[in-house]
Amino acid sequence: MHDQTPARCNVVVLLSGTGSNLQALIDSVNQDAGANPARICAVISNRADAYGLERARHAGIPAAVLDHQAFEGREAFDAALVELIDGYAPDLVVLAGFMRILSGSFVRHYKGRLLNIHPSLLPRYKGLHTHQRAIEAGDTEHGCSVHFVTEELDGGPLVVQAVIPVQSDDTPATLAQRVHAREHQIYPLAVRWFAEGRLRLDASGALLDGQALGASGHLIRP
Ligand code: GRF
Repeated sequence: MHDQTPARCNVVVLLSGTGSNLQALIDSVNQDAGANPARICAVISNRADAYGLERARHAGIPAAVLDHQAFEGREAFDAALVELIDGYAPDLVVLAGFMRILSGSFVRHYKGRLLNIHPSLLPRYKGLHTHQRAIEAGDTEHGCSVHFVTEELDGGPLVVQAVIPVQSDDTPATLAQRVHAREHQIYPLAVRWFAEGRLRLDASGALLDGQALGASGHLIRP
């Protein structure tokens, strides 16, 4: 009999804040540890007060802090961050609310093994205040996106997007809450695809099971 379980996929998660996406990843891996090859082997934050670090410790995952303020400039911080991350021998690095712009050398180092989640239907609303911008524009649909990270901010090849309707009485806060709930579904899904070897990046873009994911990635509607 052959062992069908894919090889273990070491995942390092970077965050700066609450870490609800980290929690969703922890829960999804724990729920199906026998079949899901993803293993979160470390959580790293640039902020010592990030609640996500507590979540990691509670789950028995090594949690480390690398304070960007202790470094002179982005390149120096990113070089130290690479060294810290690589100490955990990651197959995948996951940005989960990591509030730092990463240098080109960092992004190139993790090319094809660096994912981010963004609270909008990219390419719409790169950057901050996405929920407010969607409401102000009168959009009827909003959502979230997981993408491979490239040197273009919030611009890498899309993996999966979840779409939600915008309601007429939505505020940025109510919209954010519903988008967040969808983030907690699509990030574990994308990480699992990667861990299973189904998701990869090649010169043409993101591929799932060898098929091009195209301009919007895998689209999940309500
Ligand atoms: C999420 O909205 C994510 O899309 C963005 O940062 C936020 C992180 O939230 N990149 P949390 O810390 O996972 O709750």
